[in-house]
Amino acid sequence: MPETSPKGLTRLAFGGDYNPEQWPESVWQDDVRLMREAGVTMVSVGIFSWALLEPSRGEYDFGWLDRVIGLLHDHGIRVDLGTPTVAPPVWFYREHPDALPLTPEGVRYEFGSRAAICHSNADYRAAAANITTRLAERYGDHPALAMWHVHNEYGVPVSACYCDSCAAHFRRWLETTYGTVEAVNKAWGTAFWGQRYASFEDVNPPRATPTVGNPGQALDYKRFADATMRENFRAERDILHRLAPGVPVTTNFMTALSQCDSVDYWAWGREVDIVTNDHYLITDGRRTHVNLAMAADLTRSVAAGAPWILLEHSTSGVNWQPRNPAKAPGQMARNSLGHVARGSEGAMFFQWRQSRRGAEKFHSAMVPHGGTDTRVWREVVELGASLDSLGAIRGTRTEADVAVLWDWHSWWAQNLDWRPSEDADPRERADAFYEALYDRHLTVDFAHPEADLSRYPLVVVPALYLMTEAAGNNLREYVANGGTLVVSYFSGIVDEHDAVHEGAYPGALRDVLGLTVEEFSPLLQGGSVRLTGPDGSELAGDVWTEFVVPRGAETVWTYADGLTAGHPAVTRHRLGEGTAWYVSTRLGPEGLDTLLGRAAEDAAIAPRADLPHDVEVVRRSGETGSYLFAINHTTTDAKVPLETSGTELLTGERAAGRLAVPAGAVRVVRLDG
Ligand code: GAL
Repeated sequence: MPETSPKGLTRLAFGGDYNPEQWPESVWQDDVRLMREAGVTMVSVGIFSWALLEPSRGEYDFGWLDRVIGLLHDHGIRVDLGTPTVAPPVWFYREHPDALPLTPEGVRYEFGSRAAICHSNADYRAAAANITTRLAERYGDHPALAMWHVHNEYGVPVSACYCDSCAAHFRRWLETTYGTVEAVNKAWGTAFWGQRYASFEDVNPPRATPTVGNPGQALDYKRFADATMRENFRAERDILHRLAPGVPVTTNFMTALSQCDSVDYWAWGREVDIVTNDHYLITDGRRTHVNLAMAADLTRSVAAGAPWILLEHSTSGVNWQPRNPAKAPGQMARNSLGHVARGSEGAMFFQWRQSRRGAEKFHSAMVPHGGTDTRVWREVVELGASLDSLGAIRGTRTEADVAVLWDWHSWWAQNLDWRPSEDADPRERADAFYEALYDRHLTVDFAHPEADLSRYPLVVVPALYLMTEAAGNNLREYVANGGTLVVSYFSGIVDEHDAVHEGAYPGALRDVLGLTVEEFSPLLQGGSVRLTGPDGSELAGDVWTEFVVPRGAETVWTYADGLTAGHPAVTRHRLGEGTAWYVSTRLGPEGLDTLLGRAAEDAAIAPRADLPHDVEVVRRSGETGSYLFAINHTTTDAKVPLETSGTELLTGERAAGRLAVPAGAVRVVRLDG
């Protein structure tokens, strides 16, 4: 069994991507001195260093890396060593120009950035295996080595290639998946528009077509591209396991739905020894701490609840959004400890020292251009001390209250062309439901629709357009056994091949919800409808309405206007021991809060009215005890009730009854008992 935490790391991970090759060696001494000053425990090295390590084919230069790793080791800093396979050198592309990926329109990307890789390319695979082998042979038993960092953020920025090698590889993948071309024809419904294939040889990637292509083909291509990247990850991982047994292998994920949409992290979570994640705030005017909490919960969930590591985030602004604000004082600590509260075993950054040259020179770092007499540096040092005092939480697990179902395949399917409304956006619904649960102070686990849900009193389905029969059965059993389910519109519609389930909508969930949907009736842009409900209460919906026909469910809110006026809008169905709610329109924050309040009552989840808005309270517990994290995202001081007394770990103070959490501050209490 490979290790599931960084080898030899006895504290929380704190550090960042360290790119010493961008600096003269004279700076390295200063780097390690400052790392010690800040309390850095681990750094990621060599992620983009292939061109330096193998300056021409078969010629290696490990001298500089030997010195860097040796220096880090001398200063007690653990090394997360990259395999540099995300950045093949220019000599490689000169020899193998067809390793550069091709877009669906047939444009070949050029060398000169990063991650320009056709993952089906045999020459790339051989070269990647070779450099990985060399690194494993040289450093596999180095005492500084804590973990392997394979590649970088698979799926970003290139998620698929459409070249001839990919075409051949796709055909093999189809043959393995389906067996016969007839099965492919059936799954994709190629009888439509005369797309029937006579043999696998006729099938191509979904390249540019005059109008919309076959959705089954497009969906399978996403699966294929994801599986192909995973094959390449596995190839490197297996080399590393073989040559460096006992050293865990990871690759950095980007679970935030706003940051990567091409990778099925449920599948990837099973492949790595440790789940690690990169997270950047998207400053689009929304509440960034909610998006952060969601990404952290999703990361923990793909790690099956086990501890994971935040491998990258930023000390302050990034440089790749249209406008890149600096973080406010204290925000970096709130961000870092927000991840820790939700299961991360530390907080690491991109990057250690801010670059002077290259594409990311305006991206913040732990050591900014301004050096150590800066706010960012002072906050970095402070964070290092905070993490040092939280060492006891290592190995504990975050406790969740509810589950939200999420499936990347369903997201891919719903985002294909020609749907009833382009405004029905699964990611938007996932974000909105998550935010509503966050505001009710409920901690969320994400779950795959076929996962065991029995431990959750409440399960929410914001958007599962694609739902397998197995998932439908799973939800039926969950409700029948006493669970409370909330399902939002346009869920349970198609099977794994994007074929509409037989019979009336929603085929996978009709009997669970106790209704059928006769017709969808999406609204025009800007349109909205009123809903009237119990005691004359009103809610508003937009984007989507439906003609719902109750078949056992009771109507709780009814459409008051629009084409669907008089028809059920929100329903509730008792099934076995449990209850299934259905909402057939897009509710805003107020509506979602009302709906989730009703469902929480059914699920016997007590409201947390004693917790102030935007004061995040999360618990981690395990062998070393139970820890309550309180993060105050507001500008006013807050108080959080404590069931038992405890010791606040960042200040060392005792706390009992009510915990004071000053404006913008974080508090972590180790509860007594
Ligand atoms: C990450 C990437 C890093 C760096 C960072 C900047 O996606 O892994 O190498 O580019 O973004 O925010």
